[in-house]
Amino acid sequence: MLITMLYIITLLMVDFMSDDKEEVKRRLEGLFHVKSIEEQINRNLSEVKYKIGVISGKGGVGKSTVTANMAVALALKGSKVAIFDSDFHGPSIPKMLGVMDRELMVTKDRKIIPIEGPLGIKVISIAYFLPDKTEAVIWRGPLKKKFFDDLAMYTQWGKLDYLLFDLPPGTGDEALNLAQSIRDVTGVIAVTQPTEVSALAVAKSLNFAKKVNIRVLGVIENMSYFICGDGKKYKIFHGEGGELLSKEFEIPILGKIPIDPRVAEYGDSGYSLLMEDPDSEFSKVFFRIVDQLSKL
Ligand SMILES: Nc1ncnc2c1ncn2[C@@H]1O[C@H](COP(=O)(O)OP(=O)(O)O)[C@@H](O)[C@H]1O
Ligand SMILES: [Mg+2]
Repeated sequence: MLITMLYIITLLMVDFMSDDKEEVKRRLEGLFHVKSIEEQINRNLSEVKYKIGVISGKGGVGKSTVTANMAVALALKGSKVAIFDSDFHGPSIPKMLGVMDRELMVTKDRKIIPIEGPLGIKVISIAYFLPDKTEAVIWRGPLKKKFFDDLAMYTQWGKLDYLLFDLPPGTGDEALNLAQSIRDVTGVIAVTQPTEVSALAVAKSLNFAKKVNIRVLGVIENMSYFICGDGKKYKIFHGEGGELLSKEFEIPILGKIPIDPRVAEYGDSGYSLLMEDPDSEFSKVFFRIVDQLSKL
């Protein structure tokens, strides 16, 4: 508040000296506009208890799979959950939760009603705004920020225990959007594969999160092993990416997820293995992961 006041006074002094009152007015309006957007977003999210971002360094490591299945695990345990799929370049949550071909509705007071997925999971995704499922859209940085802010601000989130953000891979603008626009982010969860190549890319994202003062809640290692028909565990990918990140950033490993070919098959068909086979190793790991979330 004090910094804002000082900033305004400085602006006023500099600009009145230059006798350009229109410029002062324009800048002040800009400043208050940004403030009011932030205020509106945070007012709109005021009934959300935990706001958690899911990040990774690279695409294809299973970030969306983890987000979707964490949401299902939380919902199965009785929590009210929503997913904000803000992966501009590869939004896949609607497809994974079987709510791809739905139309968004808007209330009379111009609020977007999220799509209701399985177990009442609310879904808002960039995918619903794209003209065509496969069309390439060129998103420039400021447009992404505006879109992110608008969806955060105009969506009727309501009362939620968890809002999970499926963020785009890498250390781009979108992770910064989370830090800039949403005031009390609980933290981010990193998803890595076992390989060092994957862990290295994730380490960059985690350093970025630290720079923008977002707490890193923990790491999830995906595709850690495969359980064969004989019950034995086999490591498919070389490396201990989860352990490496846990040590380097002093964060807990929230879970090591096995490879299960049904995950990809169900994901493509809009089902979650957690609902179809809750006793599978994959499902059990997810139930253990979400048990830790409210304690972090
Ligand atoms: N543990 C797993 N076992 C089997 N397939 C998986 C697993 N995790 C992810 N997949 C599959 O790998 C592909 C990439 O996962 P996805 O979640 O889309 O990655 P990202 O969001 O990081 O790009 C998807 O087809 C998904 O079904
Ligand atoms: Mg994804």
